[in-house]
Amino acid sequence: MVVRQETDGDHGEVREVHARAFGDSEGVPGLVEALRVAEAAVEPMSFVATLDDQVVGHVMLSACRLDAPRRIVDVLSLSPLGVLPEFQRQGIGTRLVQHALASADSQAIPLVFLEGSPRYYGRHGFQAAETAGFRAPSLRYPEGAFQVVRLSAHEPWMTGTFVYSETFWALDCVGLRGERLRAARGEA
Ligand SMILES: CC(C)(COP(=O)(O)OP(=O)(O)OC[C@H]1O[C@@H](n2cnc3c(N)ncnc32)[C@H](O)[C@@H]1OP(=O)(O)O)[C@@H](O)C(=O)NCCC(=O)NCCS
Repeated sequence: MVVRQETDGDHGEVREVHARAFGDSEGVPGLVEALRVAEAAVEPMSFVATLDDQVVGHVMLSACRLDAPRRIVDVLSLSPLGVLPEFQRQGIGTRLVQHALASADSQAIPLVFLEGSPRYYGRHGFQAAETAGFRAPSLRYPEGAFQVVRLSAHEPWMTGTFVYSETFWALDCVGLRGERLRAARGEA
């Protein structure tokens, strides 16, 4: 398996990865496409995992902000991460997350945030963000889903509210709504 930076020629396969991984042909692929072209303080980072030149997984990091007491800090959101269903549970997601975090670290990004399963991302260095001094951007996060990893450039004063970029809000990609939110809250 090779993990490398995404190229323009990968866009169709990346769309397919997320359409099939999330069972959603519009929302998540649309988020990736919008993030690629959005104006941002930090260029998005987009990586693919390939097997025999086939794109089997993809991860994206994009610029967001931390509203810290001293100043606004440029941070990254890790979203989305997807692996084609028939290639899951072979360590591909793990390799993509490791690669993404190493790239963020090498660019002196202090923090990477995400909304996801604590069981999965806890294995990759993420921790519950609320207990680490951060406030979620929405009350519609499932319990434990708001997570952060602190990288080498992090300094103790860098706490505060995590603010998604406009693209996440415009496409309504923050937190859960409706049936999914009620299920996550055990309200059935
Ligand atoms: C989540 C995902 C990217 C993991 O990719 P992967 O290549 O299968 O991951 P790895 O092989 O590195 O790790 C597999 C392990 O993670 C676990 N895992 C996968 N998804 C999980 C989830 N949502 N919650 C908890 N654990 C999860 C698997 O059970 C497996 O555990 P095991 O090794 O003990 O059996 C992939 O399952 C996927 O694309 N899922 C659909 C899209 C999605 O939910 N993306 C994440 C959004 S935050």
